Amino acid sequence: MYAPTIMLAAVALLLPGSATPGPGASRTAEHPEVDSLISCIDCHSEATPEMITEYTGSLHGMNTVPCVVCHGALGSTFVSSPPAERCRGCHAEQVDTAQRTLPADRQACSSCHPMHSLTPHRM
Ligand code: HEC
Ligand code: HEC
Ligand code: HEC
Ligand code: HEC
Repeated sequence: MYAPTIMLAAVALLLPGSATPGPGASRTAEHPEVDSLISCIDCHSEATPEMITEYTGSLHGMNTVPCVVCHGALGSTFVSSPPAERCRGCHAEQVDTAQRTLPADRQACSSCHPMHSLTPHRM
């Protein structure tokens, strides 16, 4: 738990966190106003403990894939429900396959993968 916490805090500090909504802000639900110097995972261990348990037990948690690669940082880059394009950097093949082979309303990765435990798949 300790190493991922440090890494998440470091990544969060590298990303911009302005309060002004940027382009594409239509997908952005506001995050509640909180102290952005606290790491996502530290605060969410209290705020949403079940979600953190799923995440830390998943391959993302084990590989310290940070919250911010999907959700962005608090501020203008924040998205509450990240789209498949956020996965492309690490899973380009799966994103292309989903977009090529599935009808538009089934392409969301979350239609089969619970987003923080990732497996088992919901088919
Ligand atoms: C100091 C506490 C705190 C910090 C730091 C924090 N959060 Fe939250 N977050 C909350 C609380 C409280 C909620 C509301 C939870 C609820 O509605 O049950 C929330 C909600 C959310 C939601 C759901 C939003 C929605 O539309 O339902 C997401 C996603 C989220 N946080 C991600 C993050 C990410 C990513 C970070 C780090 C960049 C972060 N949080 C940092 C406390 C925090
Ligand atoms: C692989 C991308 C990804 C990562 C990494 C990720 N999330 Fe999420 N998260 C999502 C998606 C997508 C949703 C929306 C789920 C849905 O619509 O079914 C979501 C929803 C949420 C929610 C609201 C619903 C819920 O399950 O409570 C919270 C809170 C949240 N994430 C917090 C976090 C925190 C904190 C981290 C890091 C510890 C994190 N997420 C890591 C993709 C991710
Ligand atoms: C920063 C890189 C990164 C990003 C971004 C990312 N992932 Fe991953 N993902 C990983 C790593 C690392 C693994 C571990 C497996 C591996 O080595 O390929 C993994 C594994 C998975 C697995 C397999 C889980 C299992 O138990 O077999 C799924 C499903 C997955 N990711 C879905 C997603 C989805 C959906 C998104 C976007 C919402 C996403 N990932 C974004 C790095 C990433
Ligand atoms: C229609 C259901 C479905 C959708 C939608 C879906 N997946 Fe999967 N995914 C699966 C299944 C089932 C597996 C397990 C395949 C296996 O074990 O052979 C899997 C496996 C994976 C893996 C593990 C590596 C691999 O290829 O076996 C990754 C990473 C992954 N999916 C990412 C994604 C991403 C990113 C998206 C969104 C673009 C996505 N998936 C959308 C069903 C789906």
